[in-house]
Amino acid sequence: AKPVIVAIDGPSGTGKSSTSKAVAAQLGLNYLDTGAQYRAITWWMVNNGIDIEDPSAVAAVAGKPEIVSGTDPEGPTITVDGVDVAGPIREQDVTSRVSAVSAVPEVRARITELQRVIASAAVTGIVVEGRDIGTTVLPDADLKIFLTASAEARAARRSGELKGADLDTTREALIKRDAADAGRKTSPLAKAGDAVEVDTTELTLQQVIECVVTLVEEKR
Ligand code: C5P
Repeated sequence: AKPVIVAIDGPSGTGKSSTSKAVAAQLGLNYLDTGAQYRAITWWMVNNGIDIEDPSAVAAVAGKPEIVSGTDPEGPTITVDGVDVAGPIREQDVTSRVSAVSAVPEVRARITELQRVIASAAVTGIVVEGRDIGTTVLPDADLKIFLTASAEARAARRSGELKGADLDTTREALIKRDAADAGRKTSPLAKAGDAVEVDTTELTLQQVIECVVTLVEEKR
């Protein structure tokens, strides 16, 4: 059978990562977290003292760090110049800066290229999650899903993950990041015309997973 390519996009806190990993594991597909790649390049910029408020400074070094993603859904990995950055890329200092870095066209061009190489190498197929996968990275994906949820639900999920984080602060930070991601010029967060929208506000994670698995199986 031909590899199946699944694109899952949507804002933060909609359950994209949990859903994408579980769907890939259940169906024997690879998994790529593209947000982790943008976080990894941001981590490198912060560590190398690049002024991320200066898009030309960011653009000038966009090709420098070597970013490698491991695509096993049971244990995805991410390294920058050989360093495991899975932990540090989830820290607040990276999260608060990633939207500025990911808005720089040279960064997007470079990371998009990496993503296409990884997707085309997948033997059985791959679930790729992000913000612009269905619109820009893999416009010919076999299935495109756009996950949404109310801001309340998304903030509640995120602050649950962040253990003890204040709900209002989490909600504000999340809304700010989504607005930046949806408002940027180069491939903003957007639903592709042919994507299936799934509102997860009232659904359990298990229900979302089942819904997506069913949709993939219909395409196979
Ligand atoms: O999904 P996650 O929250 O880890 O994504 C982190 C950031 O990476 C997003 O806020 C966005 O700025 C950027 N991103 C992107 N395009 C993607 C995936 C993530 O610009 N396909």
